[in-house]
Amino acid sequence: MSVVPVWPWNCAYKMLIPLFLLGLAGSSLAKIYKDVSDLPGLDYDFVIVGAGAAGNVVANRLTENPNFSVLVLEAGVSNEGVIDAIVPFFYENLSAGPNIYQWNYTTTPQVGLNNRSIPYLSAHMLGGCTSHNGMVYTRGSAEDYNRWADVAKDPGWSWDSLLPYFFKNEKWTPPADNHDTRGEFNPAVHSTHGVNSVSLSGSRWPIFENQVIQTTREFPEEFPFNLDYNSGEPLGVGWIQSTIGGGKRSSSATSYLGPQYIQRPNLHVLLHAQVSRLVRPQTTKGVVTFGGAEFLQGGSLFTAKATKEIILSAGSIGTPAILLKSGVGDKNSLTALGITSVLDLPSVGQNATDQTLTFAFWSVNSTQTIDTIEQNATLFNEAYAQWNATHTGPFTNIAQTHIAWTRLDASSPIFENVTDPSAGPKTPHIEILVGTGGGSGAGQTGNFIGLAMVVLTPTSRGSITLQSNNPFDPPLIDPGFLVTDFDLFAARESIKKAYRFVEAPVWRDYIIAPTVNLLNMSTDALDEFIRNTSSSVEHLVSTAAMSAKDASYGVVNPDLLVKGASGLRIIDASIIPFIPSAHTQAATYVVAERGADLIKERWT
Ligand SMILES: Cc1cc2nc3c(=O)[nH]c(=O)nc-3n(C[C@H](O)[C@H](O)[C@H](O)COP(=O)(O)OP(=O)(O)OC[C@H]3O[C@@H](n4cnc5c(N)ncnc54)[C@H](O)[C@@H]3O)c2cc1C
Ligand SMILES: *[C@@H]1O[C@H](CO)[C@@H](O)[C@H](O)[C@H]1NC(C)=O
Ligand SMILES: *[C@@H]1O[C@H](CO)[C@@H](O)[C@H](O)[C@H]1NC(C)=O
Ligand SMILES: *[C@@H]1O[C@H](CO)[C@@H](O)[C@H](O)[C@H]1NC(C)=O
Ligand SMILES: *[C@@H]1O[C@H](CO)[C@@H](O)[C@H](O)[C@H]1NC(C)=O
Ligand SMILES: *[C@@H]1O[C@H](CO)[C@@H](O)[C@H](O)[C@H]1NC(C)=O
Ligand SMILES: *[C@@H]1O[C@H](CO)[C@@H](O)[C@H](O)[C@H]1NC(C)=O
Ligand SMILES: *[C@@H]1O[C@H](CO)[C@@H](O)[C@H](O)[C@H]1NC(C)=O
Ligand SMILES: *[C@@H]1O[C@H](CO)[C@@H](O)[C@H](O)[C@H]1NC(C)=O
Ligand SMILES: *[C@@H]1O[C@H](CO)[C@@H](O)[C@H](O)[C@H]1NC(C)=O
Ligand SMILES: *[C@@H]1O[C@H](CO)[C@@H](O)[C@H](O)[C@H]1NC(C)=O
Ligand SMILES: *[C@@H]1O[C@H](CO)[C@@H](O)[C@H](O)[C@H]1NC(C)=O
Repeated sequence: MSVVPVWPWNCAYKMLIPLFLLGLAGSSLAKIYKDVSDLPGLDYDFVIVGAGAAGNVVANRLTENPNFSVLVLEAGVSNEGVIDAIVPFFYENLSAGPNIYQWNYTTTPQVGLNNRSIPYLSAHMLGGCTSHNGMVYTRGSAEDYNRWADVAKDPGWSWDSLLPYFFKNEKWTPPADNHDTRGEFNPAVHSTHGVNSVSLSGSRWPIFENQVIQTTREFPEEFPFNLDYNSGEPLGVGWIQSTIGGGKRSSSATSYLGPQYIQRPNLHVLLHAQVSRLVRPQTTKGVVTFGGAEFLQGGSLFTAKATKEIILSAGSIGTPAILLKSGVGDKNSLTALGITSVLDLPSVGQNATDQTLTFAFWSVNSTQTIDTIEQNATLFNEAYAQWNATHTGPFTNIAQTHIAWTRLDASSPIFENVTDPSAGPKTPHIEILVGTGGGSGAGQTGNFIGLAMVVLTPTSRGSITLQSNNPFDPPLIDPGFLVTDFDLFAARESIKKAYRFVEAPVWRDYIIAPTVNLLNMSTDALDEFIRNTSSSVEHLVSTAAMSAKDASYGVVNPDLLVKGASGLRIIDASIIPFIPSAHTQAATYVVAERGADLIKERWT
């Protein structure tokens, strides 16, 4: 990665910003700065590093108090007007190859993936990964959060304590087609008064959806219908819920930095500001305090100072990387790189946890799949024009319609050797996203359905480390995919469960054939398929994990303050002590909502 950003700093923005200050431009842009010289200064009560899922929540909640001044430093670009970050169906465009909206990371060679290095997606734009993620809204099980509370020895992290924070985040919204949603979710476990929109799908695939629902009737033991997988008890098959409102993506940028918030005079967001490290450490009685956050903009270094706290919200890659560059981490490894150790915290960057994703496709005897639209330019443009005109139609959601959450069989031989890594008996090991489509990705024509399998409870662990002492070199990203017997076993079982799902009688005249027959493979061949084709579902967590105050490991205490430091907190996915059996944005939002309250308790 180049030290000098390629964005055209010096011409376009300097001409535009005076117009914003005159109030001539879009109001939602008015407080989002692109040039450090337009800020009133660099001293704030709170400096937040990273404007992603968590950072924008914290910025919003802290500036509810007019006495707090907040600066958010974001390395990436604006999300404003980026059509692929607005049209839900286009979300994958932002992840296709290197582009200005992402960090362009690649993993280290993954032994569990037959030594492949795979692209590792991470957004470099306002809203962070909520501006380009799959928008799937899943909280996980109550048991997942109760385990956090046990590990942290803080009941404040339990499901019951966090439910009000899920409700502060969630704004349940009617789907884009305004269809009758009775029987598709449980209103009792949702909130309509939060900030970030969540909805059921805004367009239908009636034939396919009936197939799925009929499967729950034909296989009620293995795949029972679950009215709402976000109730804390996810097992079963439920209708997909997504962070979409009015047919558009709802990101932390469009919601928590929406027009009614970004106007606050005490809230400043600076884009194109990449934090290199925390500087001017001072140690008093063994406790470290940093004097500021150093950042690069337009080829120059600046330092932002926080009189109350610096909050790292740079995500599961960015946060440990900044800590390590600042001398916070394993003393011996840092010294070996020529970085002065400031605080010896060996857990920084360790215990990295992510989930794998594996696909299976079947050709089907139906034209009612998204392939029909994707493979026909006329229909594609009609769908796009419909979205443009009314924010309705097939582009208001992703292609998946339901999610099946299931457990490994209790009698699985793997449990002879491995303790069940799930948080409890009501927590799934496997997720199967069920949807139409799949031909286009494989370059095939015709109609398909696709099942996407996720191993939710991996026992593999990886790491985020530095390759040098240059603060602008990208970190080494090793998610440690499929390095344990359990993870490979669970990946195999996830494929068998997916095949079982489509064995329900209702699929008999619907499915023509699998695109690759995975069921008739030997175990070795199936393992090879898994290692060769699996990728990341992009849910990295635990790289700056929370642990109990008296634990011998961990990076932050249950109040999210860094162990051994003062005035430094971490609020993002990196503090999550165990990966939830879910996609991770809801968990991250709830960490941020509670984290903001913990800060307010300290300072008011
Ligand atoms: C492609 C993809 C698809 C996903 N799909 C889903 C999904 O469908 N459902 C779901 O629930 N979850 C999904 N996730 C995961 C979810 O989006 C993340 O768990 C969540 O966004 C994590 O939030 P965060 O605040 O920890 O980090 P992020 O959202 O990554 O935000 C971190 C921010 O910090 C900035 N930053 C990093 N380093 C620096 C630095 N040095 N200086 C300044 N700024 C910095 C980044 O640019 C970024 O804006 C997906 C993730 C990806 C990448
Ligand atoms: C802000 O500060 C003023 C003056 O100190 C105080 O009266 C007020 O209660 C504070 N507001 C909040 C929300 O804390
Ligand atoms: C997004 O991706 C689709 C294919 O899924 C492509 O046809 C379309 O042109 C892309 N949209 C934009 C705005 O780039
Ligand atoms: C990612 O790659 C694109 C294309 O090469 C480049 O324009 C962009 O600046 C890169 N992103 C970062 C954060 O370096
Ligand atoms: C992967 O790399 C390791 C270490 O370089 C090597 O021992 C192993 O044989 C490789 N595996 C494959 C499948 O190539
Ligand atoms: C990783 O997490 C486990 C708890 O799950 C803990 O026992 C271990 O000490 C951690 N390792 C590091 C290096 O933090
Ligand atoms: C594409 O769709 C249009 C509109 O339904 C139809 O007239 C046309 O025949 C289709 N083209 C192909 C190649 O199927
Ligand atoms: C929809 O709007 C986008 C962005 O304004 C434009 O690029 C695209 O051509 C439009 N597409 C259609 C089919 O109207
Ligand atoms: C359990 O471990 C033993 C000893 O390593 C091994 O022989 C056996 O195959 C393992 N069982 C399973 C189901 O992996
Ligand atoms: C396709 O479905 C129809 C009924 O809808 C059935 O008559 C036909 O046999 C099916 N074709 C295949 C190849 O399964
Ligand atoms: C598995 O099934 C496919 C057809 O779906 C066939 O081409 C392949 O030869 C079969 N393999 C074995 C080992 O039976
Ligand atoms: C898996 O990948 C390896 C290494 O690229 C390759 O040699 C092998 O043929 C692949 N196996 C299958 C079944 O595609």
